[in-house]
Amino acid sequence: MSALHLGVNIDHVATLRQARYATMPESKNAEPDPVAIASICERAGASGITAHLRADRRHVQDRDIERLRENVMTKLNLEMGNTPEIVDFALRIVPDEVCLVPEKREEITTEGGLDLIVNRRSLTSSVQRLQAAGIRVSMFIDPVPEQIDAASELGAEIVELHTGKLANAYTEKVERQELERLQEAAERAKNLNLQVNAGHGINYRNISLIHKIPHLVELNIGHSIVARAVFVGFEAAVQEMLGLMAEYRG
Ligand code: PXP
Repeated sequence: MSALHLGVNIDHVATLRQARYATMPESKNAEPDPVAIASICERAGASGITAHLRADRRHVQDRDIERLRENVMTKLNLEMGNTPEIVDFALRIVPDEVCLVPEKREEITTEGGLDLIVNRRSLTSSVQRLQAAGIRVSMFIDPVPEQIDAASELGAEIVELHTGKLANAYTEKVERQELERLQEAAERAKNLNLQVNAGHGINYRNISLIHKIPHLVELNIGHSIVARAVFVGFEAAVQEMLGLMAEYRG
């Protein structure tokens, strides 16, 4: 069993910068720089950097992705909605991977998985175009059998299982149910030869629950690492998470 990989989502580094500098992007004072933080995360052992270019550009900006493309040495994963504008952008930048996510302007963060059945037609052509450019395609989905099967049918290489419900479970019953759904989903995806990733709401406490999901290759973690880094810095925050992830036994 090879080690569980960590993709650090640096969106909220950009959130902090935008809180003060959204209207002054060229200011020499515009900080913190997500690209500089990405390098620190890589040096601390992250296997990849993830950034979500939202349609409303609330945190990460086009220029950030361009600079990440030039500077990320490990792997750049562009999280994105399946819209013509963003797909064209991805085809220009050519990240190593894209993770297709649903996107609503009103949401605070990505709320549910992408519905691959409802969106099958528009996804088919986007997946083909992205893959033709050499980009590996991941789909962020709820742990539901029909969605796993649809990801396989659409030709995705990777599924990222939405762990938000497990992370935010308010009773042990919900936690148990959600863990079972994730375990079954991971099994099903593995049997279909899909790479199994997971993300959303994972933190330094609930990572022990994530360890109970089989076949995981990579976790994408954002908020909790950025929050921890406020106290200890990014290098330590990433290394602490990697230390916990090292206990994963598949
Ligand atoms: N994976 C996906 C697909 C996401 O949309 C997000 C949130 O941007 C994350 C992972 C990271 O979630 P969190 O910030 O809760 O760790």
